[in-house]
Amino acid sequence: MKKIIDQIKQFQHFYPYTVAIVGAQSEKQINYMACAWHTALSFSPPLFGVLISKKRLTHQVISEAMEFTVNFLSEERVKLSALMGRKSGYDVDKVKEFQVRLSPSKIIKSPVIKEAYVSFECKVADIRAYGDHDLFVGEVLAIHEEEKSFNPEGVLDTGKVHPLLYLGSDFYITIDPDTLQHVLPD
Ligand SMILES: Cc1cc2nc3c(=O)[nH]c(=O)nc-3n(C[C@H](O)[C@H](O)[C@H](O)COP(=O)(O)O)c2cc1C
Repeated sequence: MKKIIDQIKQFQHFYPYTVAIVGAQSEKQINYMACAWHTALSFSPPLFGVLISKKRLTHQVISEAMEFTVNFLSEERVKLSALMGRKSGYDVDKVKEFQVRLSPSKIIKSPVIKEAYVSFECKVADIRAYGDHDLFVGEVLAIHEEEKSFNPEGVLDTGKVHPLLYLGSDFYITIDPDTLQHVLPD
């Protein structure tokens, strides 16, 4: 039986979570990283939170820019996501080195990632420390969605898009669309 202390050290039992590529462009630099710790916080106003360790260059860049983009890539881009999560902008210019293709945002200065099936443009509304991560709360100012990837109700079409899920460590998976169920409450 695992000791409680060892279990807590491996505190990652909550996965799978979707992987987002989060980053910004400040006056000085541009940088993005893989981010699995993210969550919607509010519909009105639309708020989206990302949890970022102070150790990340992305933490610094978002703090300078006071804005960020959140970009969801499909499973086909797993290698790029893994690189964005295992290499730091402190050591390598990830956008240049990994040929990340960018598109201009509609409202903010920081670009979105072209290959994403959906991206959010966010303005920092709040930053709060929780242990070793800081919660950056972004007000969502614009959304870029690949029209073909969502059904008319705005639900992701898993027949067309294979969202990238993170399982912890260096493991990734996607959804099996054959398990889809439309469950009505009556
Ligand atoms: C799939 C995946 C998800 C990650 N999620 C987070 C996260 O939510 N928050 C965080 O601070 N770091 C997270 N990381 C770690 C950073 O992405 C990683 O340290 C990255 O190299 C930081 O890059 P930067 O220094 O250029 O910002 C994740 C790593 C991986 C592989």
